[in-house]
Amino acid sequence: MLTNLQQQPADALLALIKLHNADPRADKIDLGVGVYRTGEGDTPVFRSIKAAEAKLVAEQDSKAYLGPEGDMGFVEALMPYVFGKDSPDMGGRIEGMQTPGGTGSLRLALAMVKRAGYQRIIVGTPSWPNHAQICADLDLGVVEFNHALPSGHPDMDAVRAAITGAQEGDAILLHGCCHNPTGIDYTNEQWDEIAQRIADAKILPILDLAYQGLGMGMEEDAYGLRRVLVAMPEALICYSCDKNFGLYRDRVGALYAMVSDPADLAKVMSNGHNLARANWSQPPDHGGAAVRLILEDEALTAQWLAELDEMRDRMRQVRAKLAASGTAGAVDLTPMGGQNGLFSIVPLSKDQVLEMREKHGIYMAGSGRINVAGLTMGNIDKFIAAVADVTA
Ligand SMILES: Cc1ncc(COP(=O)(O)O)c(C=O)c1O
Repeated sequence: MLTNLQQQPADALLALIKLHNADPRADKIDLGVGVYRTGEGDTPVFRSIKAAEAKLVAEQDSKAYLGPEGDMGFVEALMPYVFGKDSPDMGGRIEGMQTPGGTGSLRLALAMVKRAGYQRIIVGTPSWPNHAQICADLDLGVVEFNHALPSGHPDMDAVRAAITGAQEGDAILLHGCCHNPTGIDYTNEQWDEIAQRIADAKILPILDLAYQGLGMGMEEDAYGLRRVLVAMPEALICYSCDKNFGLYRDRVGALYAMVSDPADLAKVMSNGHNLARANWSQPPDHGGAAVRLILEDEALTAQWLAELDEMRDRMRQVRAKLAASGTAGAVDLTPMGGQNGLFSIVPLSKDQVLEMREKHGIYMAGSGRINVAGLTMGNIDKFIAAVADVTA
């Protein structure tokens, strides 16, 4: 019977890693995989995480089960950063649970909306491919709208039309900041308008915040999410700590639900717990516990925020250098200066992406997405020259 299974396509980015590893050229550049890299090309463990891990090893006295909700100390310690210090639970309307990364959170959120009777998810494309993949696996329809214009700005007409065209039983999935793969985020004014339109259309927002602090700053990157929440009776929030704490493989995330009447929270969250139980029983503890220890300790929190500032500043410098170079062949690099987070799209054809790889040893996703943090002051000129060469 197992032979009835159909062959599934290999993950394109994982295939790219293999190709990159096998390339003997010393000056090859990896712009494929979505992890932060220092100016030396490393993805180190945060110093604040190392300190928290040491404390965890010394102090943890049990590894007994915690339950499907995971470490609630972690979940609650994160809330002032996500929802704001003034009213982190919006007057008792928000509750959360720990999940295995942002992916686990999205999986639960989408399974919950399916269970609640929603049928279609509205998503701006291109998007992180796993959004569509999870929807397909849950048999949820996807309604796509165009996220960005070639000028490097959000396609506001498209998002307006998508919201206006929404039907009962639709939810909208929005990237809170650092849009993957385009790096093109809504301005605060655009978020104001979107929040109002979603409220008027009475559709459920699912907010995916996987890169808080990597765009403009921790507070700035939460603007859109918070703006949507104040306009809405209900929402789901999918959070990842895997980038902003550098915990990728430790799988640290949280799912938060906001309801209009706090009396409904227990019922809603019981569905999250019950779905988690059926999927992974309970989330891995280690990374979430390390994050909790950081957030419970003022000095470690300051150290973590300084490390995050360093990452963001480096990516801003790379973006500024790309933008300052103006055009590379037929490609205008200036919009990248105003984009946010790890990713941007270089408008190259599939053949040009292949030429970047084969002729220049520069590895990027077939879509033209680059990991901006893969560029350093040592290799950026080579990258710009290669873009000029393949588009000349
Ligand atoms: C937009 C977006 N959401 C969620 C995630 C999930 O992150 P993780 O499961 O690694 O925490 C990612 C990761 O690349 C992402 O880009």
